[in-house]
Amino acid sequence: MSERMRTLTVKLDQRSYPIHMGEGLLLRAGELLGEAGCGEKIAIVTSPTVARLHLTPLEDSFRRSGFKTTLILLPEGEEHKNLASLETIYDRLVSGRFERNSCLVALGGGVIGDLAGFAAATFLRGIPYVQVPTTLLAQVDSSVGGKTGINHREGKNLIGAFYQPRAVLIDVNVLQTLPRRELLAGLAEVIKYGIIEQPELFALLEEKLDPLLSLNKDLLLEVIGASCSIKARVVEKDEREDDYRAVLNFGHTIGHALESLTGYETFLHGEAVAIGMVQATLISMRHGSCDKESCERIYRLIRRTGLPTELPSSIIPHELVKSMETDKKSARGKIKFVLCEGIGKTRFHWLAPEEIAAMIAN
Ligand code: NAD
Ligand code: GLY
Repeated sequence: MSERMRTLTVKLDQRSYPIHMGEGLLLRAGELLGEAGCGEKIAIVTSPTVARLHLTPLEDSFRRSGFKTTLILLPEGEEHKNLASLETIYDRLVSGRFERNSCLVALGGGVIGDLAGFAAATFLRGIPYVQVPTTLLAQVDSSVGGKTGINHREGKNLIGAFYQPRAVLIDVNVLQTLPRRELLAGLAEVIKYGIIEQPELFALLEEKLDPLLSLNKDLLLEVIGASCSIKARVVEKDEREDDYRAVLNFGHTIGHALESLTGYETFLHGEAVAIGMVQATLISMRHGSCDKESCERIYRLIRRTGLPTELPSSIIPHELVKSMETDKKSARGKIKFVLCEGIGKTRFHWLAPEEIAAMIAN
């Protein structure tokens, strides 16, 4: 095994799995998949851009290890995280006579990972799948934790299942080709982990932001490792989001509402989350939970990355909170809001929509 590989385990009894992280792991995917206990048939689910950039080493590695690969290409973009793409996957699995031990490999960002994961959860009542995330967002968030699903025309992620992968393979080299805007969107989730759980990660981001944004691989591996380790611990505590997993929604309550109000066209998810985190921190301060210095540090770090920090002036707080009421995390007219109590500490608080609207700064 290469020295450049590090492995974490998500501990969920018989559904436990490794997260392998390192440089050049696509070239070793065959040997690592062998350890995940998959049968010889593999379908790689990916999109044209990612296939052009990163498919060859992965496919070669599978073939060298004796796997038989099928390629399933899906169109790019969130608008294709739908039933039609799912049907394309099912059709290819049926025509290729895939069996219970055949394996799906998701090579791509969160869209491909969520789609392939849901196809794996449902085909033949569940076949193994492996996540090979290629965006920073997918590497630090969506590939870990087993949330899979597709969108319905009435809303995002309305159809889905909790279904854990057999393994996650994170190759930092693939981030070299990621557009800067997508990199920053993923960084918003890394900042979130620092705010909710780990002041040391937050301080590292403050200190080493520039080399990180220049894609220094040691730093990337360090922050991806820290992020995955936090996510793994949260998922181990509360796999199905009955309670504590909702801490991962820090900044997301406002972020999701903003995405929805702007028709999913203005902001990438991570950009909306960045604005949502600034607002959630301000709300925490106005609520008396967060000190001014922590609030300023959060604002300054997000601003330095180049991520957006302000709500567009066209957004009216009452409309924003109205959109939050349809959020999965609302109950009895109140919203389960994640408040920040300083960097590294949070608590849940049920807030009425009008209380949130009154504390939103525009
Ligand atoms: P994405 O999957 O749409 O990928 C963004 C773009 O980057 C795509 O155009 C893709 O082709 C391109 N791309 C991917 N890897 C690349 C690379 N290495 N080089 C160049 N281009 C590359 O976006 P995303 O931000 O990764 O994922 C967003 C999705 O993830 C949403 O659907 C969201 O709902 C979902 N999500 C799921 C979870 C979960 O827990 N399951 C968590 C967060 C987000
Ligand atoms: N991305 C939030 C979660 O996995 O719960």
